[in-house]
Amino acid sequence: MAGTRSLLLLPGDGIGPEVMRQVRRYIDWMARKRGIEFTVEEGLVGGAAIDAQGVPLTDATLEKAKAADAVLFGAVGGPKWDGLGFDMRPEAGLLRLRKELDLFANLRPAKVFDALVDASSLKPDIVRGLDVMIVRELTGGIYFGEPRGIEDLGNGQRRGVNTQVYTTAEIHRVARIAFELARKRGNKVCSVEKGNVMESGLLWRQEVTALHRAEYGDVELSHMLADACSMQLVRNPGQFDVIVTDNLFGDMLSDEAAMLTGSIGMLPSASLGAPDADGRRRALYEPVHGSAPDIAGRDMANPIAMLLSLGMALRWSFDLHAEADMLEQAVQNVLRTGMRTSDIMQPGMARCSTSVMADTILREL
Ligand code: NAI
Ligand code: MG
Repeated sequence: MAGTRSLLLLPGDGIGPEVMRQVRRYIDWMARKRGIEFTVEEGLVGGAAIDAQGVPLTDATLEKAKAADAVLFGAVGGPKWDGLGFDMRPEAGLLRLRKELDLFANLRPAKVFDALVDASSLKPDIVRGLDVMIVRELTGGIYFGEPRGIEDLGNGQRRGVNTQVYTTAEIHRVARIAFELARKRGNKVCSVEKGNVMESGLLWRQEVTALHRAEYGDVELSHMLADACSMQLVRNPGQFDVIVTDNLFGDMLSDEAAMLTGSIGMLPSASLGAPDADGRRRALYEPVHGSAPDIAGRDMANPIAMLLSLGMALRWSFDLHAEADMLEQAVQNVLRTGMRTSDIMQPGMARCSTSVMADTILREL
């Protein structure tokens, strides 16, 4: 397989390039020490692409993304480009990638590292050992449904409209990912909607149930209303293994779950598309955080979210589970020694830079 694994790195702007540099070092380490080779290409996206190429994502970069086994994305956005029109802003580059690669499933793990159990806003007893995966539908639902718009009613009133639409196929393909993930983890899926007040939610529940009965009877399935799930996430998050939900509820519940872990600088994510004829899924991996313009260029950013995003790529796109485990274990061990970037700084710990954090993780390997 050597030489056949391809990665496209899109560092972006802000802290994106600073954290992506550390990813390169892990890729080099795998080649040197484990004999695992990748063909690595790099491209511009976001503010970096606007400055150099005039658009947030060129067609040529998009084609490279389509051809790669996996895309690693840093972060984009910042005040420098805020005055540009919606389609020309850095974020438009990411939205175009998601749409063109048809990345319909967004995986957001919320995992609490033992050493950071005090960083959560909840009591350590509630979050210790927490490991929840939220699977959010990303390309359908109310953010995309028609009709939509703002209508002038002519009597001094206006009407804003968005429509939630889901089809059987859209529900099945994202639920399938949740069931398959659960089989590799705690074997439990909780499907979340508001089927009590929304027909699209009722359909969601019926279709997830039907798919479960037909193909995934070995996985434990439960259903929860979105408001109840929001409460349960802060009351007893340990009850969840995999949560699967629509675009809107997933947007909110994944941010809520993320905060249980204490730091945005620690959280990776994956966005997956449909499998092709060879079973290969298009995939993009990125940290949950943005470009952090307030700390960009100062060697302060936490590189862990970006490194763990590579870890998810190793697992999901390349079946390199041992290498992903080693990376996660090295992160655990380094945190246990008390080394902290400023975002996860705690009393009595040692503050370090982006590069020192990454150096230490690499040495730990
Ligand atoms: P942000 O995630 O960039 O920053 C929020 C806060 O967390 C800041 O104080 C920042 O310094 C800190 N932070 C973020 N990542 C960190 C890291 N790795 N290490 C240490 N501290 C970290 O979100 P914000 O400030 O709302 O947005 C800044 C820009 O990023 C905006 O232009 C926004 O549109 C864009 N953005 C881009 C995303 C992406 O590329 N996927 C996602 C979210 C925001
Ligand atoms: Mg959000």
